[in-house]
Amino acid sequence: MTKIAIIGAGPCGLSMLRSFEQAEKKGEKIPEIVCFDKQDDWGGLWNYSWRTGSDQYGDPIPNSMYRYLWSNGPKECLEFADYSFDEHFGHPIPSFPPREVLYDYILGRVKKGNLKNKIKFNTTVTNVTYNNDSFNLTYRDKKNNTILNETFDYVVVSTGHFSVPFIPEYPGMKSFPGRIMHSHDFRDAEEFRGKNVIVLGSSYSAEDVALQCHKYGAKSVTIGYRHNPMGFKWPKGMKEVYHLDRLEGNKAIFKDGHEQEADAVILCTGYLHHFPFLTEDLKLQTHNRLYPPKLYKGVIWENNHKLMYLGMQDQFHTFNMFDCQAWFARDVIMGKITIPSETDIKDDINKWVSIEEKLENPDQMIDFQTEYTKELHSLSDYPKIDFELIRKHFKEWEHHKVEDIMTYRNKSFSSPVTGSTGPVHHTPWEKAMDDSLKTFLNK
Ligand SMILES: Cc1cc2nc3c(=O)[nH]c(=O)nc-3n(C[C@H](O)[C@H](O)[C@H](O)COP(=O)(O)OP(=O)(O)OC[C@H]3O[C@@H](n4cnc5c(N)ncnc54)[C@H](O)[C@@H]3O)c2cc1C
Ligand SMILES: NC(=O)c1ccc[n+]([C@@H]2O[C@H](COP(=O)([O-])OP(=O)(O)OC[C@H]3O[C@@H](n4cnc5c(N)ncnc54)[C@H](OP(=O)(O)O)[C@@H]3O)[C@@H](O)[C@H]2O)c1
Repeated sequence: MTKIAIIGAGPCGLSMLRSFEQAEKKGEKIPEIVCFDKQDDWGGLWNYSWRTGSDQYGDPIPNSMYRYLWSNGPKECLEFADYSFDEHFGHPIPSFPPREVLYDYILGRVKKGNLKNKIKFNTTVTNVTYNNDSFNLTYRDKKNNTILNETFDYVVVSTGHFSVPFIPEYPGMKSFPGRIMHSHDFRDAEEFRGKNVIVLGSSYSAEDVALQCHKYGAKSVTIGYRHNPMGFKWPKGMKEVYHLDRLEGNKAIFKDGHEQEADAVILCTGYLHHFPFLTEDLKLQTHNRLYPPKLYKGVIWENNHKLMYLGMQDQFHTFNMFDCQAWFARDVIMGKITIPSETDIKDDINKWVSIEEKLENPDQMIDFQTEYTKELHSLSDYPKIDFELIRKHFKEWEHHKVEDIMTYRNKSFSSPVTGSTGPVHHTPWEKAMDDSLKTFLNK
């Protein structure tokens, strides 16, 4: 019997488990599956942890999510085709839920099945090698502190790529009297109430961490971008300036001459694709981009078709794209999809990479990832979902953000699965301080 290892039980690993479960329900014979996760429960980044640094076993904490994190895109754009929000909550809910609500939704689908018993929790995969047509996996059972080995025919890497922070250094950091941290370790904006905060970066973490600090009472928030500013109409108390030059005492000095007193510097400088458990010949090496090379259809490792990666792209689309990838990977493993010749694989990868390299603005990037996801969707029996509506929603959402970065989360969108429209949330995001599921769902 074919045996597969899934490394990681976050949204991608759970999509993989779900895809096999659905095939089994249709009467197909599925492989033996073992899923590994180094955390003590499933859900990946959505399984919030107060911890930073390392866990009680000395293992680095993968979690990068923080209290008061709300979805930064409409939930309708990430909806599962086979498990709608309406089905989970019993009625339409607003379009921008906080973390706990999305966590509940992600788990709702897998809790219906018998999937948890396929996962070894508190288990870190430490080494994967490929010899004689099979993979040898070494893993550490953290609770019992034992090292074990097992052989598999296929390996699916679904370990995420927003867990290992990229931490640059700027002159003056060593003598800065305040707090310096990466967004990976950011947990609670309340810590910065009344403080002057510097945020470095110009992507989603910079945007959201800066907004959180402002919302929860920071005295000032200064965002330092390196290449392009986000350019939103920031509220009073927030500004965006060009690139940090150095810190001098407690002063941040920017390359445009701007100076700002600072109590804290939060590095929202992104993450590394980091796979210390894979040998070099199996290791994806990329920065955060929409089409990492060497992955056929964004999933199959070019040099070894029994190795698959899920969710390694930069992400507009998330959960339903992960599903399309998982359903595709499943059908390759089950022999329902044939992998083409080496030349065709190379041509296909090059085609996507060369389009990606010419993308200039968010609308084009949304189109690109929508086309990619639609193509994958057409290759398996993943249920029907309206990707054209999702494309339209993403573009509208981008424009809402440009109109007003403080109010875009108060809008509502329609479901690409059920067609229902989410109600407007009872409290505007700027005033909603309590992010609990109970308060959010309270009509
Ligand atoms: C701060 C932040 C906010 C985000 N907000 C949103 C949002 O609002 N909406 C959205 O759609 N997306 C959001 N994302 C994107 C996020 O990447 C996806 O939603 C999703 O979590 C990706 O799923 P994943 O399974 O690929 O990775 P993860 O969620 O990172 O899960 C990977 C799992 O692999 C496990 N693992 C890692 N290494 C090993 C190992 N060696 N052995 C065993 N297990 C291992 C980890 O413990 C983890 O459980 C956000 C990301 C970040 C960082
Ligand atoms: N739900 C939410 O609200 C929420 C909140 C936070 C994050 N997220 C998600 O988290 C994921 C990761 O986002 P991310 O912003 O952490 O990573 P990211 O999108 O990869 O962006 C990394 C940023 O770091 C900047 N950077 C890198 N090195 C730098 C340096 N030396 N100095 C200054 N800036 C530097 C980059 O700037 P350049 O462009 O100049 O290279 C870029 O702006 C995304 O999927 C996002 O959607 C969601």
